[in-house]
Amino acid sequence: MAGPVPALDERAAACAERLRAADSVLLASHIDADGLTSAAIAATALERAGLDFEVVFKNQLDDAEIASIAAREYDTVLFTDFGSGQLDCISDHEAAGDFTPVIADHHQPADTGTEYHLNPLLEGIDGASELSGAGASYVLARALAETSDGAATDGGQANDGSVPASEYADGGAAGAGVEGVADNRDLAGLAVVGAVGDMQAVGGELHGANANIVAEGVAAGVLDEGTDLALYGKQTRPLPKLLEYSSEVRIPGISNDESGAIAFLDGLGLDLKEGGEWRRWVDLTDEERQTVASSLVQRAIKRGVSAEKVDGLVATTYTLTAEPKGTELRDASEFSTLLNATARYERADVGLAVCLGDREAGLERARKLLRTHRRNLSEGLQWVKSEGVTREDNLQWFDAGDAIRETIVGIVAGMAVGVEGVDPDTPIVAFARKSDEETKVSARGTGRLVAQGLDLSVVMGEASEAVGGGGGGHNVAAGATIPAGEERAFIDRADEIVGDQLG
Ligand code: C5P
Ligand code: C5P
Ligand code: ZN
Repeated sequence: MAGPVPALDERAAACAERLRAADSVLLASHIDADGLTSAAIAATALERAGLDFEVVFKNQLDDAEIASIAAREYDTVLFTDFGSGQLDCISDHEAAGDFTPVIADHHQPADTGTEYHLNPLLEGIDGASELSGAGASYVLARALAETSDGAATDGGQANDGSVPASEYADGGAAGAGVEGVADNRDLAGLAVVGAVGDMQAVGGELHGANANIVAEGVAAGVLDEGTDLALYGKQTRPLPKLLEYSSEVRIPGISNDESGAIAFLDGLGLDLKEGGEWRRWVDLTDEERQTVASSLVQRAIKRGVSAEKVDGLVATTYTLTAEPKGTELRDASEFSTLLNATARYERADVGLAVCLGDREAGLERARKLLRTHRRNLSEGLQWVKSEGVTREDNLQWFDAGDAIRETIVGIVAGMAVGVEGVDPDTPIVAFARKSDEETKVSARGTGRLVAQGLDLSVVMGEASEAVGGGGGGHNVAAGATIPAGEERAFIDRADEIVGDQLG
């Protein structure tokens, strides 16, 4: 077959073949936007293929969690958005006859090999910027839609009322009822949400294998790709809030400045209110958008924003065309934040339900969680700004203790890069308290540092091992868990390794 990522065809076919032969499948996935979309894609594909399965979510896949998965006594376990980095432990269970692992992941693989392993890094495709966990799951879903003689199955099951993972959802998979259901191409929208959620749209646009998935989604009629203002909240935020909260590109006199943002909008000579309420970006005509965007660019230039940053004001946006205008679900970036707001607060069930089509109780619940998540991010960032970071020779770090939830400390660390007092050209390491015994570590770098040799998955893996913990991830973003009290020793070792990598 010719899947969306030809280099992965063979691996995808082998994984699909193995899943089709399974009696029942336990689908295990990671608790973030990419993990949720991975699970939703895989669940829908398994359901359409007529396979029995159950879904579980895990924060980190450590030995204890893998053992608990083994204890479920499924003959086949499908890992999505994790698994590659834990292959040593997973292989031990496989050798013991506990289960057969099938993996669709994009994290740095451990040295051990396994038979059913779909990971872009095994074929020279970058797992940090070219394919996400949801993308790998999508490649698998496309292969699952093929019968063994190579033809796509009719796959209409998602529309006949039998819903994937029905205990979670009361509707069909997002985008169901459109073209591309028979071959699972309707799932491309979720794959794009996963990639955007993992920050793979480097330079404002998806590349490589991700771009192939975008093309399939556009062809299937579920996705639209366009150039637009790069600010977060185009679907849902009233215009002044859209501009005021523009943390992506800071514009003096507008960003973080409510009255400044309102004055700017008032000065454009447009009628930007309706019934006394501010309109949203999606409510504007093309012409009005043009006026606002170009005035914004002019203002940024006039206020001394660098050309590079001004370029960043415009980016490629990915629109899920089957979703209603003015909802978080229509914009890949807003959708992914909504999902993080569920999964990172122990409500992965809610996020999965939304991915699978719940537009009522699940969506309502997700929106409530989103308000809390937003507040936590903004308070977290505020905390970093006021407490500052500590500089070592080759990295900078902060220890949030209990001030930032361990499940979002990585997101906050990423947002902190470039704020005042945090050097944008130095890797950042963040600690948060996980329990009395354990500390969570998150690390973030930049594309430029990676080009110079930085590989944070190695840094997190080796430095955590040196202090009795474990970790991994991607070159540009990685994490670890270490014993409480080992933070200083961990930083010393991590600082050394980063020095070696960049030296
Ligand atoms: O486990 P997973 O791969 O889904 O998580 C990837 C993490 O790496 C996300 O939190 C994402 O925000 C982060 N990332 C980043 N910058 C990149 C790529 C990924 O901060 N360029
Ligand atoms: O948690 P955080 O967002 O910082 O994670 C960044 C990346 O590191 C993710 O891809 C995550 O899966 C990975 N990670 C890991 N092992 C850990 C913690 C995080 O592989 N113990
Ligand atoms: Zn991922």
